[in-house]
Amino acid sequence: MHIITNDHLPTCRWSFFYIFIVKEKPIGIFDSGVGGLTVAHAIKQILPGESLVYFGDTAHLPYGDKSEESIKFYSRKITEFLLGYDAKVVLVACNSASASAFDYLKTEFNDRIILIDVIDPVVNYLIARRFRKIGVIGTKRTISSGTYDLKIIKKSQGTSVVSLATPLLVPMIEEGFIFDDISNAIIRTYLSNESFSGIEALVLACTHYPIIKNQISKFFNFNVEIIDSARVVSHVLRDVLEKHQLINDTGNVKDQFFISDYTPYFEKIAKMFFEGDINLTKADIWN
Ligand code: DGL
Repeated sequence: MHIITNDHLPTCRWSFFYIFIVKEKPIGIFDSGVGGLTVAHAIKQILPGESLVYFGDTAHLPYGDKSEESIKFYSRKITEFLLGYDAKVVLVACNSASASAFDYLKTEFNDRIILIDVIDPVVNYLIARRFRKIGVIGTKRTISSGTYDLKIIKKSQGTSVVSLATPLLVPMIEEGFIFDDISNAIIRTYLSNESFSGIEALVLACTHYPIIKNQISKFFNFNVEIIDSARVVSHVLRDVLEKHQLINDTGNVKDQFFISDYTPYFEKIAKMFFEGDINLTKADIWN
């Protein structure tokens, strides 16, 4: 996670007015599609007074199969779009984009915006909990980047990390196969992998996966802590906003949800991820 420092804020008596204006601005969130709405939902639970501006790049999903270069390019354009909506923070609510593009975004936007990813907050949480063996499941892009393994081991050399790409889970969830025979079989096939034996925690390193958190927990007979990045990241976001006196306490809340390609299908599954009614607007930022 990169956060803005006080050096970025005006230091004179005008800083009070600056903060007053900025705190009403929305939190920018983006994902490859609608999976990041699990993060948006978690933020709404913890920070109901905040406005959101969400962008789901449905024209380019899945990011899990894309190259690092493509994801950097998409992430940059989307961050610019969110800055155009005056986001006070940009949250990369996609593990594939966090793994591939977050360092690049920091170098490009460091001086303009508070940036938060979904990986560093989870790694810090894992280190604080002192788990000795951790499993990580995610898209091909996230797992092949080795980002979780490298970051965890850098901070705690004695910890062992086993990672597995589980690409069938995203289409499975989107097609509504949850707590049924098909999803049980897919989850069992992936998680029975011998390398997961003895894990104390399993990281859901994809923002789609909170939807099947309970099912995965049940698979492990509730003996493994299932780490849902949406919840962890929302708490970190609250801490960052508090630290910089940017909590929106004005009572003015307006949420906006954009996607780059609209179909009724996205509208339908967006409700499942956001756990509530949601209006999606098409924003064509690619032409
Ligand atoms: N939501 C994305 C993530 O967290 C997964 C979906 C995709 O592959 O685009 O990585």
